[in-house]
Amino acid sequence: MKKDVRKAIIAGNWKMNKTPSEAKALLAEIAPLVKDAGCEVVACVPYVDLAVAIEAAEGTNIKIGAENCHWAESGAFTGEISTGMLKEIGVEYVVIGHSERRQYFGETDETVNKRTKAALAAGLKPIVCVGELLWERECNITEEVVARQIKLDLWDVTEEELKNVVIAYEPVWAIGTGKTATAEQAEEVCALIRACLAKLYNEAAAEAVTIQYGGSMNDKNADELLQKTNVDGGLIGGASLVAEKFAAIVAAATRN
Ligand code: 13P
Repeated sequence: MKKDVRKAIIAGNWKMNKTPSEAKALLAEIAPLVKDAGCEVVACVPYVDLAVAIEAAEGTNIKIGAENCHWAESGAFTGEISTGMLKEIGVEYVVIGHSERRQYFGETDETVNKRTKAALAAGLKPIVCVGELLWERECNITEEVVARQIKLDLWDVTEEELKNVVIAYEPVWAIGTGKTATAEQAEEVCALIRACLAKLYNEAAAEAVTIQYGGSMNDKNADELLQKTNVDGGLIGGASLVAEKFAAIVAAATRN
């Protein structure tokens, strides 16, 4: 039912894993396993892997994404990569505001917003990550935290631009910990995010946004999570590095 109005997207976030030759090999393994996918399949890979990944994905149904981008077109920003650079080599998606960037690299909602707007202006599709810390959940402020992130991260993003935005709900306590949110917890927050989007934009615009769950999603728990009405896909870390596991999650998204 929900697939009538929005696209299911399964995206791998490879994080700081795989050299270019390893990336080529992994994509060659994944491609035949996902060729009949009934959902969008994306691999977000380290910057140095992008060119090789784009070449390896040619003629397949796999889309390639980056793991970050800067907001300026060019300039004195040592170590950063612009949206124009990504666009020119054929990147389609870009992960923005991942909790690891917020935690370890000083990313704030303000910089997430700037990067999101720059990505959209360049014609890239941002996968904007939001989610609460464990102690924020324990303090019962998940709703406030996530609503605040959505408001700030999407500040000044137009309704037209929203059509190219993907939201990833990633509870920080579930990332790389093996602790998955229950399907009910994932559904509750994804529904809250959609309600927040409806308030900021309108019902129809909110209904059309793909909201992924991320955090220890794997081949065993994907079905249960993806069956939920407001969980439209997944942003997958560890399991995206193993072709069979990633393909099994894609198959689950195709079924549900
Ligand atoms: P894991 O799937 O390894 O928990 O990572 C989730 C994630 O951070 C995806 O962006």
